[in-house]
Amino acid sequence: MKTEICDQFGIEFPLFAFSHCRDVVAAVTNAGGFGVLGGTAFRPDQLDQELSWIDEQVKGKPYGVDIIVPAKFEGKGENLSFGQLADRIPDDLRGFIDELLATHDIDISDQPRMAPSSLSGDTGKSLLDVALNHPIKLMANALGVPPDYMIEAGKQTGIPVAALVGAKEHAVKQVNAGVDLIVAQGTEAGGHCGEVTTLVLIPEVLEAIAAVPGGRQVPVLAAGGIVTGRQMAASVALGAAGAWTGSVWLTTEEAETAPYTVQKMLAATSRDTVRSAGRTGKPSRQLVSDWTDAWQPHPGGREPLPLPLQNMIAEPVLRRIDKLAEGGHPGAQALATYFVGQGVGLMNKVKPAREVVLEFIEDYLAAAERLGRSLED
Ligand SMILES: Cc1cc2nc3c(=O)[nH]c(=O)nc-3n(C[C@H](O)[C@H](O)[C@H](O)COP(=O)(O)O)c2cc1C
Repeated sequence: MKTEICDQFGIEFPLFAFSHCRDVVAAVTNAGGFGVLGGTAFRPDQLDQELSWIDEQVKGKPYGVDIIVPAKFEGKGENLSFGQLADRIPDDLRGFIDELLATHDIDISDQPRMAPSSLSGDTGKSLLDVALNHPIKLMANALGVPPDYMIEAGKQTGIPVAALVGAKEHAVKQVNAGVDLIVAQGTEAGGHCGEVTTLVLIPEVLEAIAAVPGGRQVPVLAAGGIVTGRQMAASVALGAAGAWTGSVWLTTEEAETAPYTVQKMLAATSRDTVRSAGRTGKPSRQLVSDWTDAWQPHPGGREPLPLPLQNMIAEPVLRRIDKLAEGGHPGAQALATYFVGQGVGLMNKVKPAREVVLEFIEDYLAAAERLGRSLED
């Protein structure tokens, strides 16, 4: 393909792949797409290692880094220690989790019950400094307008800054803040998401950006539910410059998704996900499970705490659940969940990431031909 975004990023096909797994990032970049490493969960020294490995694999081909620095979170601006944040978690919430686990025959009283959340935004600046020492071609942020230091770094280095949005108002805010690329992510998406579907959001965002006084032309990538080339072609037909994807890489050979969760994903239908705040404290789409049910607003359900408190208490427990689920524990298998979008219904086989890219290209071409044929006499 020869589009502006392909020229801008030096890629052959405008398929952007978000993944926490360096192997996926390198495989997609090497197949002609654009891999983006989710860097938030790494320590700065670990991120440095991951990026050095990617550099060796991609040999100058383009890739990016995504670092979430949430614009709003509990304790923002208060400079709280982990202990001070932990004190804000009510005791009865721990009791609620213990009871939920007990009803699933799980006792983890000997395990660490809390861990610092990687979504607190604390390490964002040091992670970005590390990333900027590598030949990255994009930096991305989610959960609000990127921090000033990211926008500033973008201006100084010329590396484009991308922002994920789930509503047209947010897209306008991002453009006004100086972001160079908008990822418009519909509610179908895995991970944190808004309420508007991709099909409605893309034209809404495009129209809203076009109406921004001053008229800076910011390309828009479509995200949310896109796991095939035909969906990508539909997004391009809507006016998007390409697709930004996350879920589809979770069941690739290279992904580090917990093995039992992969099995759940392969068996899941598009109706087996839910938007729940039970993992991070902000609504994010994930596999429906007894864990997500427990945080729904129904009798017996519990209201989650805000980010990062919910994440501090949920993440260590969910990791333990993953381990037990892998060992065949039925209670843990009922609780196991992970971020994934509605596209999971179309993810039915484990494949190498490169094959996924090649299938995207073929399916995209077939869709474009169908559109072309629809114009013939
Ligand atoms: C497992 C998982 C983790 C994610 N983590 C992040 C993240 O750390 N930062 C971010 O900007 N987006 C994150 N996302 C969202 C993706 O960047 C992407 O926008 C989304 O996956 C697109 O929708 P899809 O899952 O339907 O492809 C995550 C998505 C998934 C599935």
